[in-house]
Formats: sequence, structure tokens, C-alpha cells
Amino acid sequence: MKTIIGESVLDKLNGYLKDNSMYKLYIITDDIVNELYMNYLEKILKDFNLITYVLPSGEESKSIDNIMPIYDNLIENNIDRNTIILSFGGGVVGDVAGFVASTYKRGLKYIQIPTTLLAQVDSSLGGKVGIDYGGYKNIVGSFYFPEVVIIDISFLKTLGHKEVTCGLGEILKYGLIHDYSLFEFTRLNLKNIYKKDLNVILPIIKRSINIKQEIVSKDKYDIGLRKILNFGHTIGHSIESYYGFTKFNHGESIILGIMYESYIGKELGLIDEGYFDEIFTTLKNLVTPIRFSNEEINSLINIMKNDKKNINDNIGFILPVGKGKVNLYNNIEEQLIIKSLKGEWI
Ligand SMILES: NC(=O)c1ccc[n+]([C@@H]2O[C@H](COP(=O)([O-])OP(=O)(O)OC[C@H]3O[C@@H](n4cnc5c(N)ncnc54)[C@H](O)[C@@H]3O)[C@@H](O)[C@H]2O)c1
Ligand SMILES: [Zn+2]
Repeated sequence: MKTIIGESVLDKLNGYLKDNSMYKLYIITDDIVNELYMNYLEKILKDFNLITYVLPSGEESKSIDNIMPIYDNLIENNIDRNTIILSFGGGVVGDVAGFVASTYKRGLKYIQIPTTLLAQVDSSLGGKVGIDYGGYKNIVGSFYFPEVVIIDISFLKTLGHKEVTCGLGEILKYGLIHDYSLFEFTRLNLKNIYKKDLNVILPIIKRSINIKQEIVSKDKYDIGLRKILNFGHTIGHSIESYYGFTKFNHGESIILGIMYESYIGKELGLIDEGYFDEIFTTLKNLVTPIRFSNEEINSLINIMKNDKKNINDNIGFILPVGKGKVNLYNNIEEQLIIKSLKGEWI
């Protein structure tokens, strides 16, 4: 999959589309990105035939109810298979636009233009597209790869604090699963990242993309190695879902998930106290950890038991086993999960 990355690289889209004779474009975005950047995108695409569909910003847009009107709109506008879908926004827009592209008329080509840190380092890559259903994240979806991903880091300048934290969750995860030096560099540069120092952010994004692409290329359809990308996600997804996808965004939930799952790793003796402290001290400054009540823990574990990543009803965990290394475990005792969520160690 082709990626174009750098500061102010969006104008390369024009040449890419012309080189590939792609003239009819259907842009899917959300109201915030539309307000901030649609004029800029339209200027770059002045030679093209454009239709734009604007979703309300937020996770609620990743629902059946909110995507049906997109199909209606595609039909009303006689959109055919020569039209390219342009996803212009964060992970929500990317997942929805990719899902619509993968399903409408059995598949339209699509291009990702991610505008959040999380989307630039994670959700725009790897081809996973989908929506939430019945209270479960991403339960309806498919694998569908974009033609090109254009990562223009200048979009990050307008991101809020919470959205930066969100992207950091996935970046720190890449470091912990595959490249300890990325974790170290990111940890030491947190202030600069929040200040949107693009000279610091660019190498971090490039390294993150390399890691994700390396892992995905070895396991496109998530049957083996790719599962390590789910570090922090077993507990993280349950927290995100328990609070109705509103209190914590995806990356914040993953940061919490990494804390509790690292604690499980430490208790099992997979990592030592020193490494656990390093992870915990770094992450607790980004999202405040929670001591869950028994009732909350019951609900969280029920959500985990229904996780689509489980095999044979065992809750699957990716756990740290050393600096920048993780492994998959399927038989973690429930008591240990409960102990970690109780958080008496916090
Ligand atoms: N497909 C995958 O592989 C994958 C991986 C990780 C996460 N995800 C999904 O991604 C979603 C989260 O993505 P997200 O964190 O980007 O959320 P998001 O798309 O909701 O964006 C967060 C907020 O930032 C705003 N925004 C976007 N770009 C902006 C900019 N440049 N400046 C200012 N504001 C901007 C959005 O309008 C929104 O309000 C979740 O639904 C998650 O499940 C998917
Ligand atoms: Zn994630």
C-alpha cells in the first residue's frame, strides 16, 4: 500500500489522482474537519468533480443508522464504480468511509487522508474498516485496503489535547510491542508532542507506520502475528465500550488497557517490577487510572468474554514479556484480571 507522508503534502493528491485518471470523487468527512479544512481540500481538487458527505463528528457516526443515509446519497447521485471515495478525517470517518467503499456496489476504490494523530499512525493503515453494532466496537466490518494513504502532518496543529493523547496510546503501544527505542523517544518527548513540534512528531509517525506496515504485511488478515497490535485492547476495548464510547476515546481506553494488562504481565512474572514501573509512570500521566468496583469489573469481564478476538471462549490477552516484546496468552485466570482492575496497586 502506497503512503505519502510529510508536512503540507496534501497537494500531492492532485498529481496522484491525475496520474491514475481518477476524476470523480466522493468525499466523506465530519463536520469539524469540514469546517476546518474543506476549503483547503477543495482548492487542491479544483479540477475534479466532487460530491461531499458530512457526518456528525464522533463515534456515534460509526453506526448502521448513520451510514444508511450515505448509501441513499450514493444512489441519489448515481455514484458508479469509477468514483473514488476520499476519506477525509479521523479514525471514525476512515472506518466508515472504508466500510462504505468496501460494500457499495461490491467495492469502490478509496483513498485515506487521515487528519488525527491516531488515524495517521494507525487506523488509516492496515485495511480494517467497519462500524459498531449492538454495543460492540467494530463488530461489523471487513478488510479493505485503500489505494493510497496521504499523511499530511500539518493537520495535527489544530488537534486538541485529548486527540493527541489518543494517538499517543497507539504510538506507545507500537514501542512496547516492537521497538523499545520508539517508546523511550516518545516518552521523553511528550511535552514536545503536545506542543505539536512537527520535527519531533514526523519521525515518530514514520516509525509507527513502518511498524504497523511491517506487522500487517506479514499477517494481512489478522490470524497470527498481527494480533500483537491488540496489546492494551482487550481491557481497553471493554472500558471504551462500558462507558458507551463517550467518556474515554479509543486511544485513552488503550492507554488504560496497557496499564492493567502490563500489571497482569508483571504479576505473572513476564516482566520485572522496574519495566512495569516505567510503563505505568509514563501512562498514568496521560490518563488517570481507575479503581473499578466489583460491579464494574463484572460488566467489563462480560464485555471481554464477548470480544471478537476470543478463541473458544477464552479471553485473549497480549502481554509484555520484555522491553519492546509481547506474546499472546489465552488462559489468564479471571482472578488475576479482577485483581488488576480493582487497582489496589495504583
Ligand atoms: N481501522 C483501524 O485499524 C482502527 C485502528 C484504531 C482505531 N480505529 C478507530 O478509530 C476511531 C478513533 O479515531 P480518532 O481518534 O481519529 O477519532 P475521530 O475520528 O472521532 O476524531 C477525533 C476528533 O477530532 C476531530 N478532528 C479530526 N481531525 C482534526 C484536526 N485535524 N484538527 C482538529 N480536530 C480534528 C474529529 O472531528 C473528532 O471530533 C475509533 O472508532 C476506533 O475504533 C480504527
Ligand atoms: Zn487501537
